[in-house]
Amino acid sequence: MTRVQLVEISKQYGSTLAVDGVNADIAEGEFVTLLGPSGCGKTTTLRMVAGLVEPTAGQIRFDGQVVNNVPPHKRNIGLAFQSHALFPHLSVYRNIAFGLEVKGSPKADIQNRVREMLEMIELTHHADRMPSQLSGGQQQRVALARMLATDPRVLLFDEPLSALDRNLRDTLKYSILDLQRRTKKTAIYVTHDQSEAFAISDRIFVMNEGRIEQAGTQLDIYLRPHTEFVAGFVGDNNAIPAEVEGVVPSLPGEPRLLDVRAAGMRLRGSDPGNIRVGDRVLVFVRPENIDVLDAASAVDEPNVVHGRIEQIVFEGPTVRVLVDASGVLIKVTSSGLGRLTLLDKERRDVMLRLQDVTVVRDDAAVAA
Ligand SMILES: Nc1ncnc2c1ncn2[C@@H]1O[C@H](COP(=O)(O)OP(=O)(O)O)[C@@H](O)[C@H]1O
Ligand SMILES: [Mg+2]
Repeated sequence: MTRVQLVEISKQYGSTLAVDGVNADIAEGEFVTLLGPSGCGKTTTLRMVAGLVEPTAGQIRFDGQVVNNVPPHKRNIGLAFQSHALFPHLSVYRNIAFGLEVKGSPKADIQNRVREMLEMIELTHHADRMPSQLSGGQQQRVALARMLATDPRVLLFDEPLSALDRNLRDTLKYSILDLQRRTKKTAIYVTHDQSEAFAISDRIFVMNEGRIEQAGTQLDIYLRPHTEFVAGFVGDNNAIPAEVEGVVPSLPGEPRLLDVRAAGMRLRGSDPGNIRVGDRVLVFVRPENIDVLDAASAVDEPNVVHGRIEQIVFEGPTVRVLVDASGVLIKVTSSGLGRLTLLDKERRDVMLRLQDVTVVRDDAAVAA
């Protein structure tokens, strides 16, 4: 078990700043995911932890000790890539034994360890098979066993499932989490797939343009995005430009709420902490957090707004509704039996009740 710290690490390639002052403190046994779009610096960050890329600036520490000058093979890390690259000419057994043989471990130890690994991935009966005689999912499990056999201090995963089909990805992500939980090893997992990140992480670090935009639990990231990028990248969201009119008095320890005005709408949402009256903001509200009410149920409260249904799409388990509210198009997703009552409401006036509303600064408006 190892604590991993990244302290202001950066990597410059020519004029490209691939990683820009990343800080992270990952606890012993924690499972952290770097989530972000292609090109945001995830792989470069992971490879710096592995020692395969040298940082231009900053420090990497394992258990408090700076490892910048420790070569990759001495960092004792396990690395899993998209292409698991099993040795095609070696059996499952020999593939898993490989790292231990290189280390010169005694033969009896190797045998015990490989057996243990085979049991863990439930492939004991396939020890003598060649990789080509295994399914894609079985091959990836052998790759995981090979990575764990040498008992690394830290597990690093770079999009290990992205070459597999969806069903296999769904089962294997839980196998990875299960192996990590059982071995209690610190893990850093890189992906651009949010469903993967949400399913398996203790904490998610959302990356954008070489920086960590927000680090937090799944709930923090999903319900309390701190930046426009995070709110837009994770899940589906409505982004409504608005201006802050006031701060709602709150009790100590409770999140501060802001009153904002967007077109003709009075909205109220949680404040990430850096916003003042008069600021231009974006109000985010998720389509699944909006209720469609009867037009007659109009009440004069924040987050209850008039609208007119423009479009209804039945998608089976959900119904997607597009509502024009004071000239702003708002996406609503409705599920459960209530969704069926919406189907005949096209072109009708309705009320929307917006819940779990988040306010973030509109950086484009601030810059302008
Ligand atoms: N060896 C390299 N030489 C030059 N530029 C690189 C190199 N590796 C990555 N980059 C650039 O650094 C940025 C981040 O890349 P990467 O870490 O691979 O992103 P991700 O894994 O999030 O897709 C990209 O703009 C990429 O083109
Ligand atoms: Mg990558």
